[in-house]
Amino acid sequence: MTRRIAILPDAVADQIAAGEVVERPASVVKELVENALDAGARHVRVLLEQGGKTLIEVSDDGTGMGREDAVLALDRHATSKIRSAADLVGVSTFGFRGEALPAIASVSRLGLATSDGEAEGSQLAVTGGRLDRVDPAARQRGTTVTVRGLFFNTPARRKFLRSTASETRAAHDTLATLALAHPAAGFELEVDGVTRLQVPTGQDLVERLAAVWGRELAGTLVPLGYAAGAFRVEGFVQRPADAKPTGRRTQLFVNGRPFKDPFLIRAAEAGYRSSIHPGDRPSMLLAITVAPDAVDVNVHPAKLEVRFRDRIGVERVVEEAVRDALGRLGAAALIGGQADRTIGGQADRRAGRQWSEPWDPALQSELLPAGPPDRRSAQFAPPLIQVFDTYLVYEAPEGIVIVDQHSAHERVLYEAVIAQLRGGGSAAQGLLLPLTLELTDEELDALETYEQEIRAVGFEVEPFGGRTVALHAVPAPHPRFDGGACFRETIADLARGRFGGWANRLERFAATFACRAAIKAGQSLSEPEMRQLLLRLFEADLPPHDVHGRATIVQLPREELERRFGRR
Ligand SMILES: Nc1ncnc2c1ncn2[C@@H]1O[C@H](COP(=O)(O)OP(=O)(O)OP(=O)(O)O)[C@@H](O)[C@H]1O
Ligand SMILES: [Mg+2]
Repeated sequence: MTRRIAILPDAVADQIAAGEVVERPASVVKELVENALDAGARHVRVLLEQGGKTLIEVSDDGTGMGREDAVLALDRHATSKIRSAADLVGVSTFGFRGEALPAIASVSRLGLATSDGEAEGSQLAVTGGRLDRVDPAARQRGTTVTVRGLFFNTPARRKFLRSTASETRAAHDTLATLALAHPAAGFELEVDGVTRLQVPTGQDLVERLAAVWGRELAGTLVPLGYAAGAFRVEGFVQRPADAKPTGRRTQLFVNGRPFKDPFLIRAAEAGYRSSIHPGDRPSMLLAITVAPDAVDVNVHPAKLEVRFRDRIGVERVVEEAVRDALGRLGAAALIGGQADRTIGGQADRRAGRQWSEPWDPALQSELLPAGPPDRRSAQFAPPLIQVFDTYLVYEAPEGIVIVDQHSAHERVLYEAVIAQLRGGGSAAQGLLLPLTLELTDEELDALETYEQEIRAVGFEVEPFGGRTVALHAVPAPHPRFDGGACFRETIADLARGRFGGWANRLERFAATFACRAAIKAGQSLSEPEMRQLLLRLFEADLPPHDVHGRATIVQLPREELERRFGRR
């Protein structure tokens, strides 16, 4: 009787601990693989059946255990320190040293086969936390843990398991994360008899990344390295042009420990600014280093959450790190890194022109200058041609450069509108006769929401009764600008939430307006207009992508021509 009373609290305690540590098959995989790595395994093999619902098996070639240790490993009293009731109150923040194996064993039928390579190996069988038998077993050094019928004795929790596909995916992700955190160890995942992941022992991080995420994705990543204040960030981020709305991979580490944090991912995305389309989700691996006391990694033992003391600081540094990496990429990708030499460049930039004021009337006329080319355009010497009324083409020392005129102008306008909105200036061109427009309810809502920005870029608009508004003045970003059409299209885009993924309302408006206000494909441009557009593009120091993340500039390198014509 006394004995039963002594056993019952243990079983309950184990099951409670299991609720924290063992949520689903993926968490079992995490605990068992971490144990294997702790035991110095060079290779870890994971086997799943039905997403781990019927079987999870983890085998390693680590140190293994002698028989006594193996029995102790399954007994939480033997390995864990005695806790007071007070400790248990804060249990989720204390970690679970010595509790993982007993917790898993309490909610499954667990087999443990192990050998330390010296004495005879052992085979243990546990059912719902009760040790059934201990037998001798012949095996090599290392350990195999077999977990069958997870949650067989806690049906309420078993009900919470998701579909086989979903549990498999979660376990796969968990192992992929561990494989990235430990590139030197080899890993293998077999799901219902099919190998899903296989990475060899002894890789470095770059090789491991290519092996786990695939060479194709890894080939679209650029390295990142940045330090500011208390934080250092290293890793890889995807080139903006390769980011897609689906299929992205992300991985975060803090001081070498994997964790999840959607807000940090968001901060990294903010570092892309407008170089990706709002719907695009770039892949990234970011490893953050910070003083150990600046981060609490024990917030949740199974869920991989951490808490940074300086939350705002870490988000800012991550955003800056991404911006910095992409900035250097932009400089390199832009006409093979020759942008500065080709188009006036740094010296020209320092000559100090205010390109960020597009509604300065003097500047407007520059898109269609009447007089002789000014100082700056004189420096941009190569002959320019427009092809298909859409692309501007010229020769640079490194090759032939092709610029999409709409995309380039959109990019220039975007930056200009942002500057304009921040500066609060406005320059409208009064219309001789006001234009009246009928709007939908949604469009009227959008007009109300963005009223301030709409005014700031130079539209003067007033209610005209009912759903009709009167447009008294419009901006004039270029001579072919159709103010009425631009207004209508911009309002329609805002109303149907185009660029909705853009977190910042200002950027959302700027992107929408720039897209609608820019010179379009199919519009013929004069030579001076082309020259001015390119000057403004390069002066603005912009990434080589438009607000949709499409390429603005494409280069045909000279070597490529030489190769094609058999000259090298
Ligand atoms: N694969 C393994 N190889 C060798 N020893 C192991 C293995 N798995 C578990 N052990 C031993 O069993 C003990 C208990 O493991 P368990 O996972 O329960 O606790 P822990 O790893 O010490 O702490 P935590 O609860 O944080 O995981 C370990 O400390 C280790 O000594
Ligand atoms: Mg453990």
